[in-house]
Amino acid sequence: MLKLRDVLSTLQQVQGFKDAKVSLEQYPTPADIASHMCYLIQQRYRDLENKSVVDLGCGTGMLSVGAMVCGASHVTAIEMDPEAIEIALNNFQKLELANEIDVIQCNVCDFIPGLSQYIKKNSLKDSSDKHLSNKQKKAQRQKQKQKMKICGEKNSGNEAFTIDINAKQLLELQCTPDKFKHKWCDVLLMNPPFGTKNNKHIDLIFLKVALSMTRNVIYSLHKTSTRTHLLNTLQNVWKVKKVEVIAQLKFDIPNMYKFHKTDSKDIHVDIFRIEC
Ligand SMILES: C[S@@+](CC[C@H](N)C(=O)[O-])C[C@H]1O[C@@H](n2cnc3c(N)ncnc32)[C@H](O)[C@@H]1O
Repeated sequence: MLKLRDVLSTLQQVQGFKDAKVSLEQYPTPADIASHMCYLIQQRYRDLENKSVVDLGCGTGMLSVGAMVCGASHVTAIEMDPEAIEIALNNFQKLELANEIDVIQCNVCDFIPGLSQYIKKNSLKDSSDKHLSNKQKKAQRQKQKQKMKICGEKNSGNEAFTIDINAKQLLELQCTPDKFKHKWCDVLLMNPPFGTKNNKHIDLIFLKVALSMTRNVIYSLHKTSTRTHLLNTLQNVWKVKKVEVIAQLKFDIPNMYKFHKTDSKDIHVDIFRIEC
C-alpha cells in the first residue's frame, strides 16, 4: 500500500538545481509539497497508478520521481535547461528509475510555431560607451540580459524576447502535432514558471501545450493571486471540460537569488485539476 512517508523519503533524495536560473523561474517544488501533491493525486483521484505521465518543465525531476513512486507506468520529462536535465538524469539513475523515465530537452514555446508572430525580440544593446573596457562591456551585457524580459533564451546569442499575447489569441494558435504524438499521455503534472519574472504569459503557454498533450487530466501549480484570472480563462475562454482548485499550499521560497531581500518568503500556491 502506498504510504506518504515512503513517497516523501524518496523525494527527499532528489537533488535540486545547482545554479538556479531566475529567468527560467527555477524554483523547485519542495519534497514535502511534491509528495503531498502526488499522494493526493493517487489516493483521491487514482490518477497516477498505471498511467503514462508527462512532467512539463521537469527541472531536476521532482514531480517525475513523485509520479513514478506513486505507480505511474511511464514518465516523459520535458525541460529546456541542459544543466537541470543533467541533474535530473543523475537523480533518475540514482533512484533506479532511468528505464521508466524519458527526458526530452526542448523549449515549451517551440510546440506552438504560431507564437513567433507575437514574439518581440530585444537585441541586447551592444554598449556604445567607447570608454568601457571589453570586460566592462561584457559585464554590462550580462546585466542587461538579466533585466530583459525573457521567456525563452537563445543560449549562445545576445538575444532575448518577450511574448505579447492574450488568452484568446493563444487559443487560436495550433500546437504542432508533428513534434510530438498528439495527446500522448494520460496525465500531465507541472509546476510551470508563474510568469512573474518578466516572462508574462508563460504560465498560459504551458497550459496550452499541456492541454494539447493530455488525454485525461492535468495537475498544475499556480500562484493563488492568479486563480480568478486562470479559472476564467480555462472555463470561459478555453472551455475545458472541468477545472477546480483541489488544494492550496504555502510555498516557502528560500533566499536563492540576489534580489531576494529576506531569508525566505511564503507564497500561496493552488493545485489546479483540469479535465481535458
Ligand atoms: C518552477 S520550476 C519547476 C521545476 C520542477 N518541475 C519542480 O517541480 O521542481 C519551472 C521549470 O520550468 C523550466 N522552464 C522554464 N521555461 C521553460 C520553457 N520555455 N520550456 C521548457 N522548460 C522551461 C525551468 O527551467 C524550470 O526547471
